[in-house]
Amino acid sequence: MTTLNRSALPDSARTNGATPNPWWANAVVYQIYPRSFQDSNGDGIGDLKGITSRLDYIADLGVDVIWLSPVYQSPQDDNGYDISDYQAIDPIFGTMADMDELLEQAHARGIKVIMDLVVNHTSDEHAWFQESRDPDSDKADWYWWRPAREGKTPGEPGAEPNQWGSYFGGSAWQYDEQRGEYFLHQYSKKQPDLNWENPAVRKAVYDMMNWWMDRGIDGFRMDVITQISKVVDADGHLPGEPGGAIDDYPAGEEGYSSPYPFCSDGPRIDEFLKEMRREVFEKRGGYMNVGEAPGVDAVRNEFITDPANKELDMLFLFDHVGIDQGDSKWDIVKFDVRHLREQLKAQQEAVHDRGWASLFTCNHDQPRVVTRWGDDTSEEMRARSAKAFGMLVHLHRGTPYVYQGEELGMTGAHFTKLDQYRDLESINAYRQRVEEAKVQSKESMMEALALFGRDNARTPMQWDGSKYAGFMAADAKGEPWISVNPNHVEINAAAQFDDPDSVYSFYKRLVNLRHNSALVAAGAWELVDDDDEKVYAFTRTLGDDRMLVVLNLSGKHAELPKSVERLLERGAHAVREEDIVLSTIDAIHSAKALENGELAAWEGVVVQL
Ligand code: NOJ
Repeated sequence: MTTLNRSALPDSARTNGATPNPWWANAVVYQIYPRSFQDSNGDGIGDLKGITSRLDYIADLGVDVIWLSPVYQSPQDDNGYDISDYQAIDPIFGTMADMDELLEQAHARGIKVIMDLVVNHTSDEHAWFQESRDPDSDKADWYWWRPAREGKTPGEPGAEPNQWGSYFGGSAWQYDEQRGEYFLHQYSKKQPDLNWENPAVRKAVYDMMNWWMDRGIDGFRMDVITQISKVVDADGHLPGEPGGAIDDYPAGEEGYSSPYPFCSDGPRIDEFLKEMRREVFEKRGGYMNVGEAPGVDAVRNEFITDPANKELDMLFLFDHVGIDQGDSKWDIVKFDVRHLREQLKAQQEAVHDRGWASLFTCNHDQPRVVTRWGDDTSEEMRARSAKAFGMLVHLHRGTPYVYQGEELGMTGAHFTKLDQYRDLESINAYRQRVEEAKVQSKESMMEALALFGRDNARTPMQWDGSKYAGFMAADAKGEPWISVNPNHVEINAAAQFDDPDSVYSFYKRLVNLRHNSALVAAGAWELVDDDDEKVYAFTRTLGDDRMLVVLNLSGKHAELPKSVERLLERGAHAVREEDIVLSTIDAIHSAKALENGELAAWEGVVVQL
């Protein structure tokens, strides 16, 4: 396998235009959800000091970048994704001095830090929004204000400007008594959407971003950034507004239509992203940006991340993590490897020549993959399926992301009661679907929550087997803000750290491969088999160097697809143990398995061809 020499990376591994072969072309990012990572003061909520105290663990894993979910001042309606002051740290997480210390300590270990940037919306408690409630203020049109429908009583159902529903349940419009108008919120009613049509809004956002970059952070993960531009007609009407020129889509079963078709990847998005790049990043180096892009497809990803277009370095696409959900997020569709392959193929092929991909299955909004698509019912299968999905993410071409605890194979929460959930999305969805619109039974909704609820990813990090998993002191006065998964007694960092067969050690090898193999960092990606129901196989190629990745993404024995067998039948010798770069079981087992043409449950193998 070719060893990595960054200056020798081919053009296809290039990227942000400012620097050829940017550092992030072979970097691995680790996401921290601060509230659930490490509590240092016994109040039951993770904090900045706690993160700093765990930096050696993160450095040992070998990752290059930390993505820090929001720690800004916030009423915490959506756990910090509702920001009331972008330039202050929320006291539950610590102080600005703690933030500076974290930056300094991370940098001292060679780890960069990118912060979450939440600028599609602010909190309703942000000073900008408070001013905007006064129609005579300078900030009167910093948000999307609209009058009630004529002839309707403001605040009563049916008076909303259009029929859009919020992604967190109910109408996307909230009536404000003080202003006497409605404001748009695609997310909760405490998250009003900023009006990016207004240049003063954009300038204020860029000023704030520059302030953070000057303070020493290394870039941003941009929350739902592709929703900042909305479709409006020539007179400024949104779709479905009375007197507007654009029709809305019909309302769905809950009585609302989705804003997505008009708010995702909207008409001015490229213009706004280019402007942001010019105003904040153009003169800087060494940074990286990743935009969250729900509803954006692989083809648009290619455009937005093409360095020539000077927009963003990479995007998070979501089609591949939507394959087990139906029309609503709460409809369970059986996991099918063919659908996963179809989505990943589209994503990889679109950035074959230009642009870049980010690689993930887990984050703070996605349930733990080992419970979602793998098997957490036995220790052996849990560990093996966790490794298989790790292999899947880390062997594609792009920048891989590890979500805290994924490297331990942490599982879903397996909550059975509504009062165990903390997330407003889950709680609102239950109320709306089960109690108000009555479109789902209680039992089926609880099942959907257990599978897809975001709290599955938010239970405290499992550091050890003590009472609160080492997330907070066992004798602390407070209690964790959300319960610790009881399986922390077996599944925890302390138990895995020195075990060469652990999921943690496997992830270290994956990170190491990304750093040291040019083939993994930059090799071209090609699908091997197109329709197997269990096995997902692809190759990576760089010059004469080639590897095969074969994964049985099922809990049953699988036969090797013919196309994989043909690839292996080169040369006179059988598959040798020394050709196995990595296996979710072990090299001896996997060499034999490939020779025999079959894979065990969740067996994944990387073979040097
Ligand atoms: C996407 C974030 O990842 C999610 O956690 C949040 O609730 C919404 N954006 C709204 O900010």
